[in-house]
Amino acid sequence: MNTSSPIGIFDSGVGGSSIWKAIHQLLPNENTIYLADSKNAPYGNKTQDEIIALSIKNTELLLRMKCKVIVVACNTATTNAIHILRNNYDIPIIGIEPAIKPAALNTKTKSVGILATKGTLSSTLFHATTKQFAKDITITEVIGEGLVPLIEAGKLDSPEMIKLLQMYLAPMLSKNIDHLVLGCSHYPYLISQLKELLPSEVMIIDSGAAVAKQTKAILAKNKLLNNTSNKVNLDFYINNSKSTLELLLKDYISKIKVSEKDF
Ligand code: SIN
Repeated sequence: MNTSSPIGIFDSGVGGSSIWKAIHQLLPNENTIYLADSKNAPYGNKTQDEIIALSIKNTELLLRMKCKVIVVACNTATTNAIHILRNNYDIPIIGIEPAIKPAALNTKTKSVGILATKGTLSSTLFHATTKQFAKDITITEVIGEGLVPLIEAGKLDSPEMIKLLQMYLAPMLSKNIDHLVLGCSHYPYLISQLKELLPSEVMIIDSGAAVAKQTKAILAKNKLLNNTSNKVNLDFYINNSKSTLELLLKDYISKIKVSEKDF
């Protein structure tokens, strides 16, 4: 493994490509390999044992592809499986957690909404983070049931999507939230739809920039940053149809390679 080895990224599907974008923006010299386990999406409704088994499968494939660090670009996999991955593998593993801390620090109404999967909201790690950073704040947690399958199907602007979002935002708006934390890496693809439904003063926070910053710091600490400006390989593998992934990555299509692969 050396500085030109790729950063490995995996998600339960196409959503973690929002995290890939933040990483590529901050670290344009890095080679990357992204695994979209769309065949098994959503992870959010699976048992912890199932989420752990899928996370191990993805990690081992990225290790066989000689990745130098692994980014778990899935909140559900991070909150349920990252401790096992870190114990099992001798390679830096970076996770993604809902950005509760900045929301808790900046809320003026003392009311914050969190939209995430059932798997994330019921995890021990999520509860520990909430307890640590959001003691004096009203947190309205809502499970975004059904959102991931619609995003995987590319139905971002569909009437079903808008109906679900209206339903999930209603309890948060009745509590006068001024921050909405997106606790699932798929949800940044709904930011424009959410902005249409929320008062303009509500801040929407996702974790992409924080994960990218953390990835850079971990690479620097391990002397693994790629400082050369050679042409990079930006590979994406998906175990389902690649059409939604290509749609979400349309601004990058000339420089990335998207392949359908069974894994
Ligand atoms: C899911 O697969 O249910 C969503 C992924 C995530 O939690 O980020």
